[in-house]
Amino acid sequence: MAPLQGERILLGVSGGIAAYKAAEVLRRLRDAGAQVRVVMTASALHFVGPTTFQALSGHPVRSSLWDEAAEAAMGHIELARWTTRILIAPATANTIARLAQGRANDLLSTLCLASEAPLLVAPAMNRVMWAHPATQANVATLVARGVELLGPAEGDQACGEVGAGRLLDPDRIVAALVASTLPPRLAGKRVLVSAGPTFEDIDPVRFIGNRSSGKMGFAVAAAARAMGAQVTLVAGPVTLPTPAGVRRIDVRRAAQMRAAVLAELPAHDVYLGAAAVADYAPAETLPQKIKKSGETLTIVLQRTADILADVAAHPQRPGLVVGFAAETQDMEAYARDKLHRKGLDLIAANDVGRAGQGFECDDNALSVFWREGRLDIAHGPKSRVARDLMQLVADRLEASR
Ligand code: C5P
Repeated sequence: MAPLQGERILLGVSGGIAAYKAAEVLRRLRDAGAQVRVVMTASALHFVGPTTFQALSGHPVRSSLWDEAAEAAMGHIELARWTTRILIAPATANTIARLAQGRANDLLSTLCLASEAPLLVAPAMNRVMWAHPATQANVATLVARGVELLGPAEGDQACGEVGAGRLLDPDRIVAALVASTLPPRLAGKRVLVSAGPTFEDIDPVRFIGNRSSGKMGFAVAAAARAMGAQVTLVAGPVTLPTPAGVRRIDVRRAAQMRAAVLAELPAHDVYLGAAAVADYAPAETLPQKIKKSGETLTIVLQRTADILADVAAHPQRPGLVVGFAAETQDMEAYARDKLHRKGLDLIAANDVGRAGQGFECDDNALSVFWREGRLDIAHGPKSRVARDLMQLVADRLEASR
């Protein structure tokens, strides 16, 4: 099912240069299955025309409280009742200030006051405006009131400056919105996830790595967090942003990953080993770069410790230990063998031989096995696959109680 199926989102667009990015947010909300109605502030209309939003949402855009025809079709109170979630992206300093004060001096602010739906706000403004104590105090007021703050991100700004104040990436805005719709089934649980590849150094400039992007493990960490868990993510060398609210520990080599995972283990209820850990590492790392000489070069590799098996056999073993298996043939047989051999509770297998899923992709499909069962998670974005996997984890935790 599309993750926002059944959600009726009111997308508020306020007047900053990032208003043009709201079209992309709208597009992604629709892709995720949401119905969307757009309300623009008067200043937003100076940046982008309503026609784009009308075409993308399939509904007329509203911007005034005093539009008689629009009020006759769906009055503002009706609109406030219709929505299941209000998202303001971008939210300017002015809009944030008006929300903090509870003003109702235009349609968007009135709707926010008149609706009981959760409010999510994605600020976008010049970095000095964002850092100003007035804005920070307003944001603190909103957060204390239960408003979910999405971003802002840091980086280059349209005004030529660099700093915090950019609109969060549309993908991340929609991911946060999806997360806000999930029931908190993992509240009170502590989840430890390992993700990404490991790099095993040969000399100061070379290493043995693998094609793991870390995306699946990061999506698992984000899904666990979205379901209310406290999440620790032990990440190999990847360039992915840390999912909001997740504690991250960066490592490079298998031995470092093992040390970090085992140090964290006692405090956790669930371990998911989504990392592609090297099975062999150079027996020694040379202090100097190896010079080109003979026709062949032999590097002696040594077997690494199996982190997952060590976790499963640990005296402070978490209640649920989940492994991943990348297979190219006889998936079920190999996965079940691993489940048994490593002493796991669940194993999530993916067929990396199939095009368009697995390594270096945004999509995946999983077959998950446990002693007495199996669940096939259909092909789709890793974020959705991860959410389905974490629902199963929550089921298994409940079943084991
Ligand atoms: O046996 P195989 O390497 O295929 O098993 C994959 C699973 O084992 C993954 O969950 C991976 O994170 C874990 N693993 C590990 N330590 C290793 C090798 C694999 O934790 N050294």
